[in-house]
Amino acid sequence: MQIVTFKAKMEETSTKKQSRIILALDFPYQNPAEPQKLLVKTQNLLGMVSPYICAVKINHHLVLPLGTFNGVQTLVNQAHEAGLQAIMDCKVNDIGATNQVIAEYYYAAGFDALIANPFIGWEEGLKPIFEVAQSLQRGVILLTYMSHKGATEGYGQTIIDPVTHTETKQYLAFAKKALQWNADGAVVGATVPEKIREIHSILGGNVPIYSPGIGAQGGGAETAMKAGARYLIVGREITQSTNPVAEAEKLSESTKQAK
Ligand code: XMP
Repeated sequence: MQIVTFKAKMEETSTKKQSRIILALDFPYQNPAEPQKLLVKTQNLLGMVSPYICAVKINHHLVLPLGTFNGVQTLVNQAHEAGLQAIMDCKVNDIGATNQVIAEYYYAAGFDALIANPFIGWEEGLKPIFEVAQSLQRGVILLTYMSHKGATEGYGQTIIDPVTHTETKQYLAFAKKALQWNADGAVVGATVPEKIREIHSILGGNVPIYSPGIGAQGGGAETAMKAGARYLIVGREITQSTNPVAEAEKLSESTKQAK
């Protein structure tokens, strides 16, 4: 059986769609007693911007009110019908046995990849997720440096490298682990382009960088791409825009220069 990695699928999809924009399909809190209203809203938005994106990323904003195998699965199917990849931003962060079940459910719902937290480590942590992903030909994307200000406290802390016994930064150690574990992607905030550059110098073309934090959090699309981001994750800049289609189209254009 030919193995097609999520990394390869993303590359193929983004080339075909001529866009490296991943829509973060997020909406503010809405009355949970009216899930159908929220579902229709999300279906409409996804339908409108589908021509300008290569993937959709779903978070708790939709899993909590709609449910994984009800509304969210409908959206995953819609994404696939539009030729898009579907990513679950669950930032898995538990013990391995629990992580395995989380991954099995999200992959069963049709997600092509999920995001996980490398702070939990490999043995009895991330290893079971990578094993499930490999058996189903799905992807695992690792947080490497988050987009919010407080990321400096954890991802930015100075640590002692257990192998070389020299000082290094947590996010550089995570970048090396992303390589070692053969992750399908590394998430690095667009708010920290200098970190994208540093992490890209470790990952090269082996692990693509996914960059959230465009617009609403202050990051710039072109700056992030120039620094080495391969894909841009964009939520509110599109979902809260008065003209989401124009916004998605504009952002998609800014990623076309990428090699
Ligand atoms: P906005 O509206 O800020 O939404 O464009 C960004 C989306 O991405 C999520 N997010 C992150 N996800 N690592 C992640 O895996 C990050 O560093 C990160 N920063 C933001 C956020 O929850 C929202 O869904």
